[in-house]
Amino acid sequence: VLTMSFDLILFGGTGDLAWRKIMPALFQAFRHGSLPADGRIIGVARDDLSHEQYRTLIKSRFDNVELAKRPSEEEFSRFARMLDYLRMDLSDPADYASLADKLQQRPADVVVMYVATAPGLFTTVCEQIAAAGLNGPQTRVVLEKPLGHDLASNRAINQTVRSVLTEQQIFRIDHYLGKPSVQNLFALRFGNSLFEPLWRREYIANIQITISEELGVEKRGAFYENTGALRDMVQNHALQLLCAVGMEPPINSHADAIRDEKLKVLRSLKPWTPETLNQHVIRGQYAAGTIDGEAVPGYRNEPGVNPDSHTETFVALRTEIANWRWAGVPFYIRTGKRLAGRDAHIEVNFRPTPHAIFNSQQDCNAGNRLVIDLQPRDGLELHLLAQGANQRHRRGTPTLEPVQLDLDFDKRFGTERVGAYERLLLDVIDGRLNLFVRSDEQEEAWRWVEPILDRWSHDPTGPRPYAAGTWGPSASSAMIAKDGYCWSEES
Ligand code: BG6
Repeated sequence: VLTMSFDLILFGGTGDLAWRKIMPALFQAFRHGSLPADGRIIGVARDDLSHEQYRTLIKSRFDNVELAKRPSEEEFSRFARMLDYLRMDLSDPADYASLADKLQQRPADVVVMYVATAPGLFTTVCEQIAAAGLNGPQTRVVLEKPLGHDLASNRAINQTVRSVLTEQQIFRIDHYLGKPSVQNLFALRFGNSLFEPLWRREYIANIQITISEELGVEKRGAFYENTGALRDMVQNHALQLLCAVGMEPPINSHADAIRDEKLKVLRSLKPWTPETLNQHVIRGQYAAGTIDGEAVPGYRNEPGVNPDSHTETFVALRTEIANWRWAGVPFYIRTGKRLAGRDAHIEVNFRPTPHAIFNSQQDCNAGNRLVIDLQPRDGLELHLLAQGANQRHRRGTPTLEPVQLDLDFDKRFGTERVGAYERLLLDVIDGRLNLFVRSDEQEEAWRWVEPILDRWSHDPTGPRPYAAGTWGPSASSAMIAKDGYCWSEES
């Protein structure tokens, strides 16, 4: 348990993110006894609410959550003692002066400013915090993604923020880094010696990163319309996973040692050429279809979306990390909304044996592979080939069958484990930057996606349609099939 006192000011305190992720995570941290007892959580928004109305609003968040995660009356009232509310107009300096007054009444060891507002307000909030003298050494600022919509806007935000805060005070969140499975990927690679000697081009044929969602754009149509899957998922979450799987071992577990290695991966990504942009990047957009037996509308019919929209809801791409460890090994990334299942995993496909003395199935998923499951479950699967039960009765060369070793971390460690947002919030209060993204990493990732954005903006054909409930446009499978591989779920 952390011992310092803290104030967490949640800008966007009545917004979607506060509602969906941040408040539930703070409550779980409270329930687990990990929040310092002497803390305040101050929701900030434009709405005219009393403290009591804000607490009632937050309480209603838990009405429909699964029983195990729902607080009792007594438990919520203890949590609610930490909750406070301040009405603010985020462009009005006088309101920051009121915030400063409120904080000075009871100075805390750590002041976390969590900026979960519309991205357009990030710089305003940071500038105003500084103008009100709220950027002292005890202040930490958490910035949600998306941080900008291209390299130039990302740089502009980073420059403003860094003019009023040091890099040590800036926590750029990518919640995929907080997922327990990503922690376990670091543990697997750098806390065990078994796989690391094999983790290279000599033994690995290709690596696939899939983040598929069943959900559509929900109520975020207007936001998503100007964002798309490349900015929403690839520039950040998918590239961070690629870094975690592809980076060199850091010299220690300090934040900058880890971030230096991730940066090297991003810098080594093969630059795009007109040919690779053409052949190795597929964009799609969902049309009407069926999810879990229910008919769902196409993207263009979602509220807030342009009926002729060219915004992509699916991206599949192939890249390479041009360094000694990985030269020539394809890394495939695939992500999309309204796909056939909710599934995020990293698949490491090993090379086939150099000389065959057994028969084995020729299917492209039949070889050795290690699958790191991120969700819906947190696990590890090691796929091997073995002699099946009925071999005894057969004559001639034995045929091998796929089998798997399976580790389910939830079963092993229990489901009450620390979730991504809970982990990251505790790290902010504790001042640990390991799982946050540095500005140079972020800029490098924008630099790499920018040629794709440029090309799309000049391509009148738009994304390829795919029916909701499928694995995206067939061009995605065709792209990977050209290398002789396939995406695993589709076999
Ligand atoms: C967010 C994206 O960053 O990640 C959303 O903005 C997406 O569009 C979400 O749905 C996925 O997160 P998770 O943890 O549910 O896989």
